[in-house]
Amino acid sequence: MKKQIFIFSVLFLALISLNFKNDTNNKKSNIDKKVKKLLSEMTLDEKIGQMTQVDMLAFADPQDVEKYFIGSVLSGGGSDPKDITAKGWADNYDMFQSFALKTRLKIPMIYGIDAVHGNNNIDGAVVFPHNIGLGATKNAKLIKEASRIIALEIAGTGVDWAFAPCVAVGRNEKWGRTYESFSEDPTLVSILGKATVEGLQTKSLSDPTAILACAKHFLGDGGTTNGKDQGNTVVDNETLRKIHLPGYIKAIEANVGSVMVSYSSWNGVKNHGNKYLITDLLKKELGFKGFVVSDWAGIDQLPGNFKSDIEQSINAGMDMVMIPNGPKQPNNYVEFINDLKELVNEGKVPMSRIDDAVSRILKIKFAMNLFNNPYTDKALTKEVGSQEHRKVARQCVKESVVLLKNDGILPLKKDVKSLYITGSGADNLGRQCGGWTIEWQGKEGTVMSGGTTLLQAVKETVSKDTRVTYSADGNGAAGSEFAIVVVAEKPYAEMFGDTSNIVLSKEDIAVINSVKESKVPFVVVLYSGRPVIITDLIDKCNAFAAAWLPGTEGKGVTDVLFGDYNPTGKLPVSWPKNMEQIPINVGDKDYSPLFPFGFGLNYTK
Ligand code: BGC
Ligand code: BGC
Repeated sequence: MKKQIFIFSVLFLALISLNFKNDTNNKKSNIDKKVKKLLSEMTLDEKIGQMTQVDMLAFADPQDVEKYFIGSVLSGGGSDPKDITAKGWADNYDMFQSFALKTRLKIPMIYGIDAVHGNNNIDGAVVFPHNIGLGATKNAKLIKEASRIIALEIAGTGVDWAFAPCVAVGRNEKWGRTYESFSEDPTLVSILGKATVEGLQTKSLSDPTAILACAKHFLGDGGTTNGKDQGNTVVDNETLRKIHLPGYIKAIEANVGSVMVSYSSWNGVKNHGNKYLITDLLKKELGFKGFVVSDWAGIDQLPGNFKSDIEQSINAGMDMVMIPNGPKQPNNYVEFINDLKELVNEGKVPMSRIDDAVSRILKIKFAMNLFNNPYTDKALTKEVGSQEHRKVARQCVKESVVLLKNDGILPLKKDVKSLYITGSGADNLGRQCGGWTIEWQGKEGTVMSGGTTLLQAVKETVSKDTRVTYSADGNGAAGSEFAIVVVAEKPYAEMFGDTSNIVLSKEDIAVINSVKESKVPFVVVLYSGRPVIITDLIDKCNAFAAAWLPGTEGKGVTDVLFGDYNPTGKLPVSWPKNMEQIPINVGDKDYSPLFPFGFGLNYTK
């Protein structure tokens, strides 16, 4: 009897899984049929429109979506509608979509945004730690959960597509985008990148809250000489694959629907025109079935004029071109459309290439059910910035804090009599969030509504009898039982963050020195997008915590400082002793950083 039940169960399970497989296969072939049919009805203009992605601020008129059959709209860093609340964004989305739906074939546009640590362009959204902080958590499950929340906050604004995850493997801290990289370790990057894709896209792109993910920037962006942004990565093919490719392999395993090409070059050749990388490696060898998008005016950097940029790049395998008011042409998108049409008519870009690009884009639009569900689900709009969402971000923050030094002063007592707080980051939400927050470069001070600075978080944590005093300049520690010094990098993004000298500002160093002179024991909390050279400073304090760029939920940091959470954060990068050591990465010969990759103290020992 038992045996029969067993055989029956096995058969039953096999049937279910067969059915499931058939289901997915059916879905796929249904979509392929729809794509084929639609493609056969399209004119060349309509096809080229699908391949055109225009920044919302670059439109001469939003009606051009209808006029030129524009397939995609984006908001680059800081290209925002006037009303930047979630509702304002949703209305903006619906407005663009309404023009797309007025076209003959009613193909919906797909809207992309740099939601790289939360839906960070939206006032009141929850801002999560930047990737380097998430790297310190090493917690793929948590990052998947966080990405799900981020997807909900994106869906609440109508937007369909996040230009995330950045699966760059940052190998040189001079690079201004170091914080967009989870780690210097390719394996950690690939695990956390995959988790991000799974969270954003969820089980199926057809889920109404699924957000299309975009693995970027293909390939080798984190490996440029001297950490120069948009620079040149000089490595052989084997090293390129070993260090920079695993993130894409895993993202493709998770069915990532789009990939963005890097501004950078590989051995002197710009990736935006590199057919070997885009077509042979990504599409053929790795079997990537989604679509490839260029970076912001990225094709403009190819040698030649705008028309030859288009030719090279589309023929290399680019499916969609991201078009701002680029450096070579104002009103680029009209130019792009005209030039690409000419190129096809001149036989310089084969029709088969256009059809491949458009099929890939349409496939994603069908898979996302955009045709049936083109507008914002306003029920989700209200959830943007909710307490439930903030909880998950706070969890990410507490797991991201890496304790580098502790002479026993930590955890602080909540019923301490008096506490002094100081430093440029203590009451500065903008520095706590870093770049890509409301504005491309981020902003000082109250960058958005909602959120908790460390000063506010401390006040909400200590006992009601504790006297908390604050000044930004470091004068006023004397007489207090403890001090918390929050030093911080100024916000920056991309090439504006490139530097040959990763140090604290004179003001922050002065603050540390004056608190030291007051003889009050103190902990330093660092807000930064990368390890800062602290070799001469770390001896001065009683404890030191690297909190990266934690985002809006400052309470995650106080959870660690006051012992509600026993720190688990581990360095996702090697912490150099001095600038001369950079680049320094785990596995190097003669590896002797200030703190090694994986380092992080807790309160147990
Ligand atoms: C960045 C990308 C970003 C794009 C759109 C580019 O400058 O390199 O990471 O997704 O702009 O804002
Ligand atoms: C845009 C960013 C973009 C950058 C590239 C900025 O003006 O707002 O999104 O990444 O230009 O240079």
